[in-house]
Order: sequence, then structure tokens, then C-alpha cells
Amino acid sequence: MGNKRIFANQKMYMTKKEVDEFIKILGSIHSEQLVICPTAIYVEKFSQSKLILGMQNIFYEDSGAYTGEISPLQAKDYHIQYAIVGHSERRNILNESNDMLKKKIQACIAHNITPIFCIGETKEQYEMHKTNEILKRQIIDVFQGLKIHDISKIMIAYEPIWAIGTGFIPTEKEIKDTTQYIKNIVWQLFDVSISVLYGGSVNEKNVQSLNQIDVVDGFLVGGASTKPKELLKMYEVVVS
Ligand code: PGA
Repeated sequence: MGNKRIFANQKMYMTKKEVDEFIKILGSIHSEQLVICPTAIYVEKFSQSKLILGMQNIFYEDSGAYTGEISPLQAKDYHIQYAIVGHSERRNILNESNDMLKKKIQACIAHNITPIFCIGETKEQYEMHKTNEILKRQIIDVFQGLKIHDISKIMIAYEPIWAIGTGFIPTEKEIKDTTQYIKNIVWQLFDVSISVLYGGSVNEKNVQSLNQIDVVDGFLVGGASTKPKELLKMYEVVVS
């Protein structure tokens, strides 16, 4: 039986009707190998299903005057177990800083929520063969200053920015080598053995072969995770 996991990053997709349809098809699955990160407004709906849940984003204070934000304390009321931290869309569109990401990771861990920390290079950096250098920098910028205990609770999602929502993905060898590099770096710098997911244009067509890459611990799936039948097929691949 496969042990890789799928994390569904549903972004700002889906209407209430589509969420109902999604839950009809997948709502009875309760498995560590399938985690749904819905748009926040649907978390309550999803919490009535059996699915394991994550947040797409989380704030770093428990409560207070932070308009529009959701705290780990509030997320815990809905049995949230994971939170995506530092997705490239939030870094780039909402200007999330390394300092914020560090605080978000600490807040998650304080509430027993596993942070899924996202890193990834741009197309230009990829073409200039700077991927490893960039990823190392992104890891150090946020992990430095965190307690080793906290680092040991983090999962990393490697998401090349140029692969997100584009249909283009690195070769399997590149994904394998980069994932191994990330694991080695975290081990060398912080003495922690870390789980690494791959994300960026994973779909029902390529998941079968991506699933063969040993060193990858799972997938962060965006667009394809909003189509329940496609996601079900992908889930069947990783558990088979
Ligand atoms: P995608 O998104 O699967 O639509 O490429 C992945 C992500 O942004 O997490």
C-alpha cells in the first residue's frame, strides 16, 4: 500500500453548490493520506464531513483586532490539523514576509497544527540553475531562529512557481534530486529529517508516475483538487 499523501489546496475556487457536490463524493473518506484545505468560508461545511482538514493560511495571534484573519485557536475549533504557510501566491500577492512566516509557523506549532511551509523558484531562477541556492535561502530565512523542536514539526512543500497552474512540471529526475537536496539541507543545517511534498500542476494524468518518486512524501494539489472525481482517482493512486 502506498503511503504518500495528497493535500488539496482549493485556493479561492468553488461555490457552495460545488462544495456540496464535492462532499457528496469524497466526504466519507477519513484518511491521513487525504487532507482538504478549503476556502476558509467552507471550513465549517467540510468539518461536518469525515475529511481531515487544513487551512490555506493562518494568522499568528490567538485573537485581536486583525480584520479578515483567522487564528490557530479558532481553527482548532474545527479540528484543523494542518496549515499552508508561505504559499507563493501569498508571498507575492499579499507580500507576506519571512518574519510573518516564522511567526505563523510558531503559532501553528503552539496549537498542534502542522505547518506546510512552501518554497520554490521562479522560471528565471530555474533557467539560471539557481534552484538549489534559492531553496536553501528560503529555508534558512525562515527556519533560522526557530527551535529545533519546532522545525521537526514542519512539512515542506516544494512548489516551483513556474509549475503552479501552468501544466508544466520539472522532470521526475529534477523533482527527485531537488526533494533530496531539500531533505539533505535541512538535515545538515538543523539536524532534522523533514517530509517534503511536491506541488505544481499535479493532476490525474501525471500522478501515477510522480507517485513512483520514492523520496517525495506526497503532493500539494491546486486546480485538480477542486474536481472531486479527479481528486478521488488521484487518492486511489497514492493509496494503492
Ligand atoms: P496547481 O497548484 O496544482 O493548480 O498547479 C498547486 C499549488 O499552488 O499549491
